Amino acid sequence: MTLYEAARTARLNAHAPYSRFLVGAAIRSEDGQVFTGCNVENVAYPEGTCAEAGAIAAMVVAGQRRIAEVLVIADSPVPISPCGGCRQKLAEFADPDTPVTLAGLDGPRVTTTVGALLPGAFTSDHLEAT
Ligand code: THU
Repeated sequence: MTLYEAARTARLNAHAPYSRFLVGAAIRSEDGQVFTGCNVENVAYPEGTCAEAGAIAAMVVAGQRRIAEVLVIADSPVPISPCGGCRQKLAEFADPDTPVTLAGLDGPRVTTTVGALLPGAFTSDHLEAT
């Protein structure tokens, strides 16, 4: 199964009754496993979580720590743009050159990198520099 297929399938399980914006994410970890997530909204709106966060959590639960590749998909005429918080979450487990593909449901896809999505990310290097 491709990351696109995995994310597209995960998206179908999104719990998004408030925004009605269903998002799916798929991560391939360094060892080749694929982990998926969808957005899970809450009636207390700030408690909702993004698709990327779910996929990262699934990867971490499985004992994996390094992201090789990411794909995020939503029903949008333009490729979805990950929120700032998810960019930081991805940076925790990826390298700046790790590819991130952003997709619309049947439309355009663009591949960028974690570093391009979050230039100058706050990393553990900054903690160690203190
Ligand atoms: N959302 C994601 O799951 N990932 C993103 O990259 C952007 C936004 C979700 C959060 C919320 O449930 C819905 O999309 C609308 O913001």
